Amino acid sequence: MAGGRSKSNESDHEASSTLLFKNDDSLEPYQIIDAFTVCFKHILDSPELDSFIQKVKSHLYNRDYIAAFDDDNKRFGYASRWSPSRALAYASLFSSLLPVKEMLQEPENVKRVLCVGGGASSEVVGLGAVFCRLKEYHPNSPSQLDINVVDIADWSTVVSHLSTYMKQNWLHKEHSLNTRFVNEDILSAKIDDLATLDLVTLLFTTNELFAEKRKETIKFLHTLSNGCKKGSLLLIAESAGSFSHITIGNKQFPVQFLIDTILVGKQGEGNGPWEIISENDSTWYRINEKEVAYPLKLENMRFFYRLYRKK
Ligand SMILES: C[S@@+](CC[C@H](N)C(=O)[O-])C[C@H]1O[C@@H](n2cnc3c(N)ncnc32)[C@H](O)[C@@H]1O
Repeated sequence: MAGGRSKSNESDHEASSTLLFKNDDSLEPYQIIDAFTVCFKHILDSPELDSFIQKVKSHLYNRDYIAAFDDDNKRFGYASRWSPSRALAYASLFSSLLPVKEMLQEPENVKRVLCVGGGASSEVVGLGAVFCRLKEYHPNSPSQLDINVVDIADWSTVVSHLSTYMKQNWLHKEHSLNTRFVNEDILSAKIDDLATLDLVTLLFTTNELFAEKRKETIKFLHTLSNGCKKGSLLLIAESAGSFSHITIGNKQFPVQFLIDTILVGKQGEGNGPWEIISENDSTWYRINEKEVAYPLKLENMRFFYRLYRKK
């Protein structure tokens, strides 16, 4: 079933769904994994890889992204451990969400995406895998994908290694895919080209933003609402069931409830600036270990996602 999602269990009350391991609208999983194996060879071969990953983990425990990702060993170490499986899952997710797939396969125009907290590049490679696969149908057409990545840690080398690989190996014309990395805190950055964006992604990043600075994160969501054009898409994903809680009055609500209130409006009223066009509270992506080989464990993922469209 190319490009679709299959219900894992029709009677499941949580409406859990399972993404396909691979489909015709994305490059093959082994091609995605190859990008990481080639670009990360030096770190995968390093006898110190495990110690780099442990260092990152201890800083992440304290939500110290600057210390966690302050050198290339830690950045490549983290990305070599987590980004390949996430890139597989995101490629499957992007190709299963029709509005995202249609945006990526549109043959004539330049499409622009902003990946907030995307420095480790899983979503960059996931987007590239779908765009480049669909581009095979019209390799000489003028369509182009421009991906802007904003991250508080300096991931420029990781983004540039993987982008160069995708351009050189997955495309007929290299300039059809472009990435730009901006090393800034999204909560204080001035983003003045929001109106040109077709898609904004906040993948496994929203929880972090709320934990860092709640007021500024709410302000950032309002900035997106004010700046994004009609029809643009916003994709939020987090580990399933992981949203932290906030207290309003004397009640506790998951952050997801606050996000929906800001973006879509109060429950039942739907008078906010965005509408939800696809959602699932528990989506699985499972690795088929027979089809891919990678020196480190490739993790299955279970996540929550919402796809919003600007009204
Ligand atoms: C858990 S990682 C998610 C990585 C990637 N999006 C993925 O799904 O694989 C969170 C990312 O958000 C970034 N981040 C955290 N706070 C940020 C902020 N205020 N502005 C921009 N990026 C931030 C971190 O540096 C890190 O790269």
